[in-house]
Amino acid sequence: MTPSKTIGFGILGAGLVAPFHAKGIKHSRGGRLVAVCDTNRPRAEKLAAEYGTRAYESLNDMLADPEVDVVNVCLPNHLHFDAVLACAMARKHVLTEKPPAMTLRETDAMIEACRKAGVKFGCTVQCRVRKSIQAIRTAALQGRFGRLLQADAIMKWFRPTDYYQSDAWRMSRKSGAGVTVQHAFHYIDLLHYLAGEAAEVDARMLNLAHPGIHLEDTLYAFLGFRNGARGMVEASTALWPGVDVRIEIHGTDGTAVVVGERMTIWKFKDERPEDNEIRQYGNATQATGATGATDFGFLDHGVVIQDMIEAIHENREVVIPVSSVRHTVEIVLAMYQSAARGRPVALPVTDDDSVWSWPS
Ligand SMILES: NC(=O)c1ccc[n+]([C@@H]2O[C@H](COP(=O)([O-])OP(=O)(O)OC[C@H]3O[C@@H](n4cnc5c(N)ncnc54)[C@H](O)[C@@H]3O)[C@@H](O)[C@H]2O)c1
Repeated sequence: MTPSKTIGFGILGAGLVAPFHAKGIKHSRGGRLVAVCDTNRPRAEKLAAEYGTRAYESLNDMLADPEVDVVNVCLPNHLHFDAVLACAMARKHVLTEKPPAMTLRETDAMIEACRKAGVKFGCTVQCRVRKSIQAIRTAALQGRFGRLLQADAIMKWFRPTDYYQSDAWRMSRKSGAGVTVQHAFHYIDLLHYLAGEAAEVDARMLNLAHPGIHLEDTLYAFLGFRNGARGMVEASTALWPGVDVRIEIHGTDGTAVVVGERMTIWKFKDERPEDNEIRQYGNATQATGATGATDFGFLDHGVVIQDMIEAIHENREVVIPVSSVRHTVEIVLAMYQSAARGRPVALPVTDDDSVWSWPS
């Protein structure tokens, strides 16, 4: 492949998140949306028409399109697995939406299939690429926090009952719905990305404000990290009108707090010249999902898409390989197992499919 080749993207699933991928591709350097596929043909045609491209109803037909180099998997959560395996078989690179899968078994099988096929396999846990989050990650790797003490994610969001009722998959744990695996996934991911691997979780789940929807809309979890730090995840889609997520990292030598995408506290015992600039990172007016399912920008998806293009040209790993998200799947599984058993669960865990058949 010559470095100047335009990379063709095909979006699989033309629902709510698909336009964020389409915009990210449109604004990329060197990428082009060449196909959209949805079993709901009018949806595929509508998005394809907006971007002047082709619509498909079947994944196999889209995979046979020689202009498709990368497939953006934007399907309901329980459908990622089969789609990713089909893409790997067709030797297409894959950018999957989160969660990559709902079990470790499927996550591992997808990683292995993509490795064997020699294709890139990235995941859009796009909050990782925010400048504020990258600054914390760098500081953590440099040891600027000292001994990490606490890492918290506080997600007080709102989704109306209509959101859940808009499609059957959004109302069933079996298809990967519920605040833990669906919405909090991003912030659980950030906690281990910033604070290291989790060793234990103790989680409780409730439905506070969506009667008739048999899912948890609220999660409370304590975490213990391998490095000795503790943490907490509070995540809800019940709390109207919804406020920006807070990520708080505390060590013996420093504290960082991000609200939405904005750095609001950045304080270290070893103050450095770059710190003043870092304190300005993020845009206070940028919505990040608190108040509605489409109330966020496409720029973070754009960064992940741009990285995929460059990773293909440079023949390197993508910035967010699914292998780096496996631990997020594992923590989420541990949370469901802990909530089901009413007691703490130590990691590593193995799959326990009974959590997905709740309330059975
Ligand atoms: N990264 C983010 O911030 C973010 C935000 C929202 C959603 N998501 C993720 O994106 C994915 C999709 O979520 P959504 O809210 O867009 O869902 P959605 O229900 O709005 O869209 C899914 C689309 O897939 C289509 N579809 C279903 N089965 C298909 C098949 N076999 N072949 C082709 N098309 C098929 C449906 O017709 C629908 O149009 C989920 O994994 C979700 O977790 C991520």
